Amino acid sequence: MSHYHIKHLEEYYQVYRKSVREPENFWEEIAEEHFLWRKKWDKVLSWDFTKPEVKWFEGAQLNITENCIDRHLSTRGDKTAILFEPNDPNEPAEHITYRQLYERVNQFANVLKEQGIQRGDRVCIYVPMIPELAISILACARIGAIHSVVFAGFSSKALATRINDSECKLVVTADGSYRGAKTIDLKGIVDEALQNCPSVKSVLVVKRTNEEVHMEAGRDHWLQPLLDKAPKEGKAEIMNAEDPLFILYTSGSTGRPKGMVHTSAGYMVYTAYTFKNTFQYREHDIFWCTADIGWITGHSYIVYGPLANGATTVMFEGVPSYPDFGRFWEIVQKHKVTQFYTAPTAIRALAKQGVELVDKYDLSSLKVLGSVGEPINEEAWHWYNDTIGKGKSPIVDTWWQTETGGIMITPIPFVTPTKPTYATLPFIGVQPALMDDNGQEIKGNQVDGKLCIKFPWPSMARTIWGDHQRYKDTYFSAFENKYFTGDGALRDEVGYYRITGRVDDVIIVSGHNLGTAPIEDAINEHPAVSESAIVGFPHDVKGNALYGYVTLKDTGESRNHENLRKEINQLITDRIGPIAKLDKIQFTQGLPKTRSGKIMRRILRKIASNDTSNLGDTSTLLNPEVVQEIMDNVL
Ligand code: WTA
Repeated sequence: MSHYHIKHLEEYYQVYRKSVREPENFWEEIAEEHFLWRKKWDKVLSWDFTKPEVKWFEGAQLNITENCIDRHLSTRGDKTAILFEPNDPNEPAEHITYRQLYERVNQFANVLKEQGIQRGDRVCIYVPMIPELAISILACARIGAIHSVVFAGFSSKALATRINDSECKLVVTADGSYRGAKTIDLKGIVDEALQNCPSVKSVLVVKRTNEEVHMEAGRDHWLQPLLDKAPKEGKAEIMNAEDPLFILYTSGSTGRPKGMVHTSAGYMVYTAYTFKNTFQYREHDIFWCTADIGWITGHSYIVYGPLANGATTVMFEGVPSYPDFGRFWEIVQKHKVTQFYTAPTAIRALAKQGVELVDKYDLSSLKVLGSVGEPINEEAWHWYNDTIGKGKSPIVDTWWQTETGGIMITPIPFVTPTKPTYATLPFIGVQPALMDDNGQEIKGNQVDGKLCIKFPWPSMARTIWGDHQRYKDTYFSAFENKYFTGDGALRDEVGYYRITGRVDDVIIVSGHNLGTAPIEDAINEHPAVSESAIVGFPHDVKGNALYGYVTLKDTGESRNHENLRKEINQLITDRIGPIAKLDKIQFTQGLPKTRSGKIMRRILRKIASNDTSNLGDTSTLLNPEVVQEIMDNVL
């Protein structure tokens, strides 16, 4: 019997030890007993972090949608698979059963085929949080097409970059999207993007807002009439374990976004197993992850993980503040949500509101609370624990990444005693290491260092689409034979981990990863700008906010700084999206640089954070005088 469902701490330690000592036996048992395979594997694991190359369940054949849908039909056909809660609280929720999901996914898959999409083709999905988003993902997986979901808050430029990087043939989108009281013209954004996307042959458009949109003849098709004609049955394409399942872009500290590639079998096994344990999922639970499916959290814990377990997964179209800040709690009450999984930035925003917005609702259905995406601060942790969980629903502070595919460090609720701000213990099979700056592993407890993982786990990304060298350079070159996460962490006296934040130039704003370089590139496009540098500074709701230092070209004219700030933020919105806008923009005479010309962000970060007591030695700078000037004018 495999330990698919861990029930007490001793069992955790026992299973954890086994997963480290005999990883292949361990994962083989999990895979064997809980999934549907068309053909079993020849080899559980082969790996070499120097190449790097990792393969799990090589030789196996499967289709992930048969695991997420078909195999539940006989026992859970009438059970709700997807529970859709619309933006407008007056619009009725939609319950999509496993049987209906089966039919809708097949219809969609048949439409994709009719549009010429074949196994291995890339399909870009730029759809808001409506059922068609999950259905189009599953439809791609059903026919072996590789989905690339782009968060429907990205700008047309950002969308075009992502479409072109993986040469998508088809785009799925909607006429528009609802976000609180706002309507967003999604189709317009797609039209603009597609002016520069030669690989795209067709666009399928979901009707949501019923706004009038331009439909390009021969390229754009309304989805519904095509679905209506498509058969509700369809064979799942039999895939190899290591065939790519999807690409999901994440920001790097430099350069273009990285298209992380996840494969079929390992991703399925790991997301399903982590879902079951991290949320102590039971058959009649109602699971709600508030993330957008445009991020990895939604891929793994709205779509694949829950559906692989035959769960009911809630999809919420709206925002926490509409029609008021009680919306989340109203939904919890309405659908009797049992597990609630959100981000610290949402928790902080909600904690700022009056407690009467919480007390109005019955939250007694809640059993487990989750947090993900950024470090959760002590205050937010306690508010979540006390006000929402009433001290009886454990918080699982789950640390993981787009690259890791699934949850890596987390308490198991009712099993691992929680500790505020600690992600606590590695999940089964995960072998973390803390590293010092000389590349040595720091053993023992009560230490801190750079967080690496020293052994493969099934859902790790296998490469960066089209750029394996970059994959190697980014993740496997900083420390020999280890995957480097880019995060710092400490380990306390009992071996619990606390994630302290990024150690590179990625800044997490409201749970969204933003690389500094692409933002600086956008700013530098402004004709008046000579140079810029972006740093993060603490923000009580967003976790971090962005601070930009900008030097202007010397043209002798005086300029209106307020207008310039607006123009710069508009440029950022156009190039990346509103999530990357700067909170503060300071115009300076220069940027502090080393003698080799590198911008000293460390100093800029401290100034932006109002932490100038210890700036370190600035005398070695090329231009030490600018530091004082910057400090004098800090915003
Ligand atoms: C950060 C999100 C502290 C971390 C699933 C990581 C966290 C990055 C936590 C990945 C957490 C995520 N505590 N920090 N519980 N979870 N992070 O790719 O810096 O959007 O490297 O994946 O978010 O963000 P990504």
